[in-house]
Order: sequence, then structure tokens, then C-alpha cells
Amino acid sequence: MKPNVLLIEDNAATRFGFVRYFAKDGYDIVEAANLAEASIAMRTCRFDIVILDINLPDGSGIDFIETAKANDPLIPIIIITGEGDIPLAVEAMQRGADNFLTKPVDNASLAVFMRKTLEIGDLKQQQSTRKRLEKKDDFFIGETRAMRNVHELARAAGDGDIPVLITGETGTGKGMLAKWIHQQGERAAHECVEINCSGLRGEMLSREIFGHARGAFTSADQDRKGLLDIANRGTLFLDKIGDMGMDVQAQFLKVLEDKSYRRLGDVKLLRSNFRLICATHHDLDSLVSSGQFRHDLMYRINMLSIHLPPLRERMDDLPALVSHLLRSLGSGISTLSDDVMKLLCGYSWPGNIRELKNVLERALLLTPRGTTIRQTHFANLAMTRPPLPYRQRGTIQEDEEARIKAVLAEQGGNVELAAKSLKVSRATLYRRLIQIGRKQA
Ligand SMILES: Nc1ncnc2c1ncn2[C@@H]1O[C@H](COP(=O)(O)OP(=O)(O)OP(=O)(O)O)[C@@H](O)[C@H]1O
Ligand SMILES: [Mg+2]
Repeated sequence: MKPNVLLIEDNAATRFGFVRYFAKDGYDIVEAANLAEASIAMRTCRFDIVILDINLPDGSGIDFIETAKANDPLIPIIIITGEGDIPLAVEAMQRGADNFLTKPVDNASLAVFMRKTLEIGDLKQQQSTRKRLEKKDDFFIGETRAMRNVHELARAAGDGDIPVLITGETGTGKGMLAKWIHQQGERAAHECVEINCSGLRGEMLSREIFGHARGAFTSADQDRKGLLDIANRGTLFLDKIGDMGMDVQAQFLKVLEDKSYRRLGDVKLLRSNFRLICATHHDLDSLVSSGQFRHDLMYRINMLSIHLPPLRERMDDLPALVSHLLRSLGSGISTLSDDVMKLLCGYSWPGNIRELKNVLERALLLTPRGTTIRQTHFANLAMTRPPLPYRQRGTIQEDEEARIKAVLAEQGGNVELAAKSLKVSRATLYRRLIQIGRKQA
């Protein structure tokens, strides 16, 4: 890809010479004759390097360093300055510029400077990516086929730039996977902006997401960046997209189509170069069929879809996942006794990994240091229904019936013992048995 250069220089002849020389050298150059033009360019376009003159008609180039760094903390900046201005150039370096050259600038030396500065810039980006990766929350993959498939897709998604849709029940790790994907690629050096679509209202959408210009409304006393600005060069993560209202869907579709938008009260068209990741626990196809989700939006966001299986469908991963979570909870224990594991394997985990993590956290709290986690620390699980394979799951009523029958069989048909085990009164159990009997008669 051609490096994008922002050239800020008031002398038209110098700009002309620069563009002629560097365009043939494989650079894409945007010219700005003053600080105002430079600020607009910086906000609307992504640059790999800035060449900055110090004496400009509307102020000192030194002040622009801060603006550029606020937009992109790692952007390399080369200062070009008159001979008498060396102290200023030194100040510029202290304020974050990477290099400086004195006028008249020889294009061949500038070319070497630019190449070196870009190389250093790349190294800085890589370093910052590595730091982020080290900090990342460890996403557990596991060995089941479904999860190996998820891993493969997620890695492909991390390398590429196409929109990804993550589906799966609550607590299966959709949010965590979205961040993991963001951290894999070059965009990791920039922000991953998360928006919960279920809470979006029209006004909030325009103010928070698009930002606003000074004076757009009474309390708007200065320009404010929107979340789309912040997501520039990073990732926009639209969580719970299936809950997005129809009016908001229409507005978003427009943003996704042209990747451009206007701040509230502003006429300028801004661009944001973000990668899109969406997540939902809904079945979007059926939302589209019932008219609750736009077909055209679904088509836009669903270029690569990754489905996270519920925990009950990947029980083979449970022991390793438990060890992983215990470590992440900072416990000194990394395995559980066989009887506890049996108990955990016999539960259906409707809240998936989130529920498992919470249950383990609670058990750890109940376990004094130096003792082992016991079955009694999972008392709540023992009361709940046994797991039913996903495809066989019926209505809540059917599940309850199956549970009652299973416990009754376990207790050799003894209603009193079964009622105790189910933690209901004998009378309640009799009533339910009569209802079940009537239904089946
Ligand atoms: N693969 C995983 N490895 C480690 N921890 C996980 C994993 N998946 C989920 N978790 C844990 O479960 C919690 C819930 O995960 P997450 O918030 O990503 O779920 P979700 O699918 O986005 O749920 P919801 O639909 O409710 O938003 C996380 O905070 C994390 O602690
Ligand atoms: Mg989530």
C-alpha cells in the first residue's frame, strides 16, 4: 500500500516540487497550505507520516504536533524549518516530532529521512500491538471441533478487514471474541469502540456516535468527537445488534455504506476507517423474516459469521476450561475433584461460560485457604435440572417434567425423597405428578 503523506507547507512552489518528486517515488500526498486545512485533513483522512513546516500563515507548526498526536499518538512527524529556527526545531522534537531538516530541503535527503522515519513508525506500531496483546484477556479456545472451527475463522477475521458477525447464546464469549479479533490485526494499535445497540436512542445516536460541532445545541460549547471518530483505524464493535431499533438501523446502514457521516450541526462530511464487528444472541434470519431487522443491513454486517456453541455442546472442553478460569480468577487451585467435575458436567449451563465463571468464583469465596473445593460449594447446581442435549430441549414445562421423572426414578419412585431432592413440598410434587398424568392419559 502507498504511504499516505500529509504535507503542510505554505509555499506553493515548494509543495509543487515535493509532490512531483515524491508522487513518482510511490507516495500518496495530501497538501495543506495552513494549519486550518491540515486539521481538517487530519480529522478526515488516515496518514502514515506528516511533513510539517514551522512558519505557517495561521500559526506555528509546533502547535500542530499536539493536534496530530491527539488524533494518532504514533504518527511520525518530520519538521522542515529555516536555518535560523534550529531552537524551534529542537522544541518540536521535544514536543513529539521525530526528525527535522533545514531549508532549502534536498528532496533526495528528505526521501531517506522519510523512509527511515516510516520504518521506525512501523516498529513503534508493532511494539504497541505487542504490548496490547500481552495485556489481553486470555480467550480460551479448547479442543472441540466446533471451537477449533471458531478459532480458524477468528484468526482469518483477525488478519482481514471484512465485517464479522458473532452469534451465540448469552455468556458464550461473543464480546470477548470480538476483542480478541480486534487484537490480532494491525488495528490493535487503535481503539476498539463498543456500542451496545439495545440502548441506542435517536438523539443519543447523533450526539455520542457522530459527535457534534460547537454551537450545535445550547450546551455544546466546543467540538466533540463522536465514537465513530474514535473508532477510526480501529474497530467498531456493535454489540446486541439484533436489538437495534428500526430507525437506528436505517441511520447505521447509511454510515456503513459510505463510511462517512456528519457531526451534529456541522456540514463537513467526515470519514472513519473502521473495521466492523457485530454480535447478537438473536437469530438474525428470523428477525429479518419477521420484519424486525433490515435485510440490507444484515447483508452488510454478515460477510463472515462465527457461531459460538453453547457450553452444553462442548462439555469435553469443560475440565480444561475450568482450569483456565480458575487460573484467571487467581486461585491457587487449578483442578477440581472428580465428584465436583461430575457435578459440573451434569449441569446444562444456560448462562454458559459467564455462569461457569461466576459459579467458580462463588465456590472459591466459600472455600477457606488451604482446603479443597467441595461439592457442597455448588449447592445451587445440585437443585437445578439435569442437562438435556440441546436439540432435544423442549419447553420449560417439558424440561421440568423430564427432571421430575428422572429424580423420581433415581429415588426408586419414593415421592417423599424425590420431593426432598427437588426441594419442593410433597404436596407440590403430587400436584405436578397429577397434572403430568392427566396430560399423558
Ligand atoms: N472463551 C472464553 N475464555 C475465557 N473466558 C470466557 C470465554 N468466553 C466467555 N468467558 C467469560 O465469560 C464472560 C462472558 O463473556 P462475554 O461477555 O464475552 O459473553 P457474551 O456472549 O458477549 O454474552 P452476552 O450475550 O450476554 O453479551 C466473560 O467476561 C469471560 O469472563
Ligand atoms: Mg456480550
